[in-house]
Amino acid sequence: MTTRVAILISGLGSNMVALLDAMADAAFPAVPALVISNRADAAGLEKAQAVGVATQVIPHRGKTKPQFERELDEALRAANVGLICLAGFMRVLSADFVSAWPGKILNIHPSLLPAFRGLHVHEQALEAGVKVSGCTVHWVTAELDGGPIIGQGVVPVRDADNPATLAARVQRAEHIVYPAALARALGKEPETLETSDFLFVV
Ligand code: GRF
Repeated sequence: MTTRVAILISGLGSNMVALLDAMADAAFPAVPALVISNRADAAGLEKAQAVGVATQVIPHRGKTKPQFERELDEALRAANVGLICLAGFMRVLSADFVSAWPGKILNIHPSLLPAFRGLHVHEQALEAGVKVSGCTVHWVTAELDGGPIIGQGVVPVRDADNPATLAARVQRAEHIVYPAALARALGKEPETLETSDFLFVV
């Protein structure tokens, strides 16, 4: 059965585009049902519309968290969604929301978890002096950036890196790892791919 996927964004939506590209393949075990943004000015909205995917804006401002999450929940249920992919969605979901969607929410985080949770991840990595960094796709639990890991991509950290150059390299890995991890989450066999720029294991 083909799973209906919602993608939640707040900004550019480059990971969303990677997921939509993957789902455009008829052999992929999921289809995009809906893209939701908490920000009306998220550039990702137009990118989703351009490929014919339904979008909805659910602002968080001026609402309590339970109100915001009730609207989110209603939209997801109305779209008959089976899986939720957080892709640069800049709101932390409550334990109540997460427990209402058990084992149904994925997130991508731009570090090799459990290292460097939260915000300013690339600054944290450079400050720590690590020689590799990367991205992690994980199941979302009530613990921030703490759920079981589905897949990771590893990239080198160069001596000349700054947060922006490292972020760009990690993002290239994200766009490969997230679709592969989504497929893995839907039961596809694990894969490992190595290139000169990065390694990813899903
Ligand atoms: C990505 O780096 C992701 O890891 C983080 O937010 C960023 C979103 O970028 N959670 P985009 O909107 O997908 O381009």
